[in-house]
Amino acid sequence: MALDVAPRHGPLILSLPHPTHATRETSRVALVTCDLFPDLWDDDFPLRDELRARNLVVDAVSWDDPAADWDTYDLTVLRSPWDYVPRRADFLTWAQSVPRLLNPVDILRWNTDKVYLRDLEAAGVPITPTTYVRPGETWTPPTDGEWVVKPTISAGSQDTGRYALPSQAALATAHVDRLTAAGRTAMIQPYLKAVDTDGETALLYFPDATGRLSFSHAVRKGPMLTGPDEGRIDPGSEQITVRTPSPAELTTAEQVLAAIPSSPAALLYARVDLIPGPDGLPMLLELELTEPSLFLRTAAGAAARLADAIQNRLP
Ligand SMILES: Nc1ncnc2c1ncn2[C@@H]1O[C@H](COP(=O)(O)OP(=O)(O)O)[C@@H](O)[C@H]1O
Ligand SMILES: [Mg+2]
Repeated sequence: MALDVAPRHGPLILSLPHPTHATRETSRVALVTCDLFPDLWDDDFPLRDELRARNLVVDAVSWDDPAADWDTYDLTVLRSPWDYVPRRADFLTWAQSVPRLLNPVDILRWNTDKVYLRDLEAAGVPITPTTYVRPGETWTPPTDGEWVVKPTISAGSQDTGRYALPSQAALATAHVDRLTAAGRTAMIQPYLKAVDTDGETALLYFPDATGRLSFSHAVRKGPMLTGPDEGRIDPGSEQITVRTPSPAELTTAEQVLAAIPSSPAALLYARVDLIPGPDGLPMLLELELTEPSLFLRTAAGAAARLADAIQNRLP
């Protein structure tokens, strides 16, 4: 460390450089991706560039890269490790082994299976009503209405379908059976029709200077489901526009964050996805604490806010 020594004729004063992170040229951050997006998903380029502009070394590394040396990073930040879904156990074992991983592994274990909605419901959060069907169980479709079938462990709308009953009951049942036969738990929800008109609101939160999760920005996502599950949906097909959240959405999102079963101070990012329910009030569709797209390009300063939070977490 360089020391500035005061003039010889005055008292000897050693003035240490300010320990601002901007001067720490050796800090290293890994942004975790997967082999599908080895150079990161486009959405994360602004974060990578912002961190590099602050003289941090930033590497994009696949979570399952056997050559990666996670010990060499001051911080490892999950971004687009989206191929973990069929290998969740391996992913969590990996996450457990990585020092200084954000978000923390205990939260990932809870958040990578949408049965967490039960915990949030028990805490009073208005969630989308959900029925779970486990392997070995059978499901009797409702007699009418529109319903969504999806796996509890999923990302990017994979293996997710929408069914009009009774005409598509056989297709819906086949979808549930396909999931459970593969050892997966299926979840069935009413199709929230407001997504077709109002869309889905994703609210992004990053820690502020005090470490408290603070609202950063929000986007509107258009509807994703046109009918029965027909394979993987391309994440690039999402219709994303800027959104100013309503007071009710902000209140619900704060309620969701307050119900997370860990200290929210441990988190680097949180995304709360809401769709209006039948009464028009926001309902939680998903709380994303694992690998959410952050839509950093949609809001001025968003990448800088997350970069600030990352720098504040550097050792
Ligand atoms: N109950 C629902 N009502 C309306 N749309 C839904 C419902 N569940 C899922 N969707 C649509 O499917 C997309 C993916 O579902 P989601 O629960 O967010 O899982 P993931 O994003 O983890 O795959 C949502 O963004 C939304 O467009
Ligand atoms: Mg989602």
